[in-house]
Amino acid sequence: MNQDGVDKGRRRFLTATTAVVGGIGAVYTAVPFLASWKPSAKAQAAGAPVSVDISQLEPGQRITTEWRGRPVWIVRRTQEMLANLKKLESQLADPNSSMPQQPAYAQNEYRSIKPEYLVVIGICTHLGCSPLYRPEVGAADLGGDSWLGGFFCPCHGSKFDLAGRVYAGVPAPTNLVVPPYHFADDNTIVVGEDEGAA
Ligand code: FES
Repeated sequence: MNQDGVDKGRRRFLTATTAVVGGIGAVYTAVPFLASWKPSAKAQAAGAPVSVDISQLEPGQRITTEWRGRPVWIVRRTQEMLANLKKLESQLADPNSSMPQQPAYAQNEYRSIKPEYLVVIGICTHLGCSPLYRPEVGAADLGGDSWLGGFFCPCHGSKFDLAGRVYAGVPAPTNLVVPPYHFADDNTIVVGEDEGAA
């Protein structure tokens, strides 16, 4: 056998081995991250609080977790998004969150503990569909210039702003519900539990 052939065959084998090891490494490093914010099925069924790592959440992004079998959205709002909330008040049914759709600590202009982070249950208060996240200002299909970003329910057309406040004159009667939650630290939100309840 020619020496070149042996070397090439060996090199191919080594390359393939390295690729497999690299693949396994990638799987193992991904698991701890998922495990940190995906509760076990048993914990979910019991309604246990859910810890969510928000360290990778970029401004403008939304992530979804699950608590008591329901989707919970966390949106990291930009300064522009926060500024736009004030412009919408005349179009909303309950701009000051007078209805009990949130814990007392979220009954403020941003409906949140920290203005930057919105935490809401992602279920429409009309008949329970899951609205779509539509953050793009001026979306033509949602009213053009008057749309400053929010959530749109495709079932019957209800609209909510980026604080989960419902627009007036749509089928949904109330704002999206804010669940109990708190910050365990700067990068961790615990959904399903008030501060100091543990
Ligand atoms: S369920 Fe959302 S508008 Fe009817």
